[in-house]
Amino acid sequence: MKILVVGSGGREHALCWSLAQTSDTRHTIFCTPGNDGIAQIARTVALGATDVKSLARFAEDERIELTVVGGEASLAAGLADEFAARGLAVAGPNARAAQLESSKAFAKDFMARHGIPTARYRVAEGANDAREILRRGEFGDGEAPVVVKADGLAAGKGVVVARDRAEAEGAISELMEEGKVGDEAARRVVIEEALTGREASLLFWTDGKDYLLMPPARDHKRVGEGDAGANTGGMGAITSPDVLDAETHARCVREIVEPTLAGLDAERLDFRGVVFVGLMLTPDGARVLEYNVRFGDPEAQAILVRLRSDLCAIFYSVARGRLGEARADWTDDSSACVVLASRGYPEKPVTGDSIAGLDAASADPRVQIFHAGTKRDAGGAWLTAGGRVLGVTSTGATLGEALARCYAAASRISWEGMHYRRDIGKFL
Ligand code: AMP
Ligand code: GLY
Repeated sequence: MKILVVGSGGREHALCWSLAQTSDTRHTIFCTPGNDGIAQIARTVALGATDVKSLARFAEDERIELTVVGGEASLAAGLADEFAARGLAVAGPNARAAQLESSKAFAKDFMARHGIPTARYRVAEGANDAREILRRGEFGDGEAPVVVKADGLAAGKGVVVARDRAEAEGAISELMEEGKVGDEAARRVVIEEALTGREASLLFWTDGKDYLLMPPARDHKRVGEGDAGANTGGMGAITSPDVLDAETHARCVREIVEPTLAGLDAERLDFRGVVFVGLMLTPDGARVLEYNVRFGDPEAQAILVRLRSDLCAIFYSVARGRLGEARADWTDDSSACVVLASRGYPEKPVTGDSIAGLDAASADPRVQIFHAGTKRDAGGAWLTAGGRVLGVTSTGATLGEALARCYAAASRISWEGMHYRRDIGKFL
């Protein structure tokens, strides 16, 4: 089969690897635009992930039989709509269904309509409206923490957990008046009560009717150990039985996964792809923090190394609306992905540094090193080319074993200013 993966990060490398890996048959895998690490296992083609017309034309010309979309920007830009209109099989929701991620107000209203547990919230249409909501003190008195979220896509920079009213006011000004995430994304904001608890990510494939669950994952968004410092795209992720106990897991399926599918169906939202539910495990039960309409990065890396079934068959069934015929079997162990980041990430990543030790680190066949931001120079040497550079990923009978393998491999890699968290998988 000819398969196209759209995107360029560690997640897309893991998707290409898994599509190639779990199948009996030989597939030809293309990745647009991909990166030089991905180019080792797929044919990379320099087309932008949101250039949906060119991507569709490419898919037609190459007779691509299945397209798998990595990131939300492609989906919000209507990639799935364009492909479906041309009769091309695509795993990824259309733009209307992708609003579950591309509009936080849409997602919150959706959850409210379908009784899906989430933080209490209000949608503000402008800065004055937002300030008025704070003044009314609906989410506790003036000093209670609240969360201010830009409505639109903001690459992780649109959410501010404000400890008190002054910080919340500051967030409203920054987001709505000072253009922190661009004017379009923050024309509206969601203001919601701050929840406390551990976080977990529950992902599943769906074709709008059936669903297949993945092992629950946990990611670490802050740059520094002990959850210190700035938010990032994710510094590491794990899967392990400790992420979600069996009873909570069963409740999440009953109270969140199934009502989400029923809601999509009731609203005629044609969702074919991956739903990623970001959860907060509060003392009163699990609450949905957000939906994403795609795999997480680096959750995908940690999840896919445990997949035993054929990923291509699963995605093809998703795209064709026949997920009921597919299965997802997983290894019975734990996994971890540790992200190695470049100097200055996330504020001002420095690129172009030369990476040492990649071959030595790849020697252990149980370790997969997924490339997020690398480049090869003319002589074939590896250079850093992004903020997140590599995702060192492994499985183990226990989480500790998986982590030990990742860290042993990571310790063989180095470049000027490389940094990573040594506490991935620790519950803080
Ligand atoms: P989101 O993009 O909505 O997942 O938000 C990003 C991060 O902000 C989450 O992973 C949480 O750590 C935090 N967050 C979001 N909503 C809330 C909330 N209602 N209470 C506390 N923390 C939150
Ligand atoms: N790791 C979080 C995300 O991909 O949204």
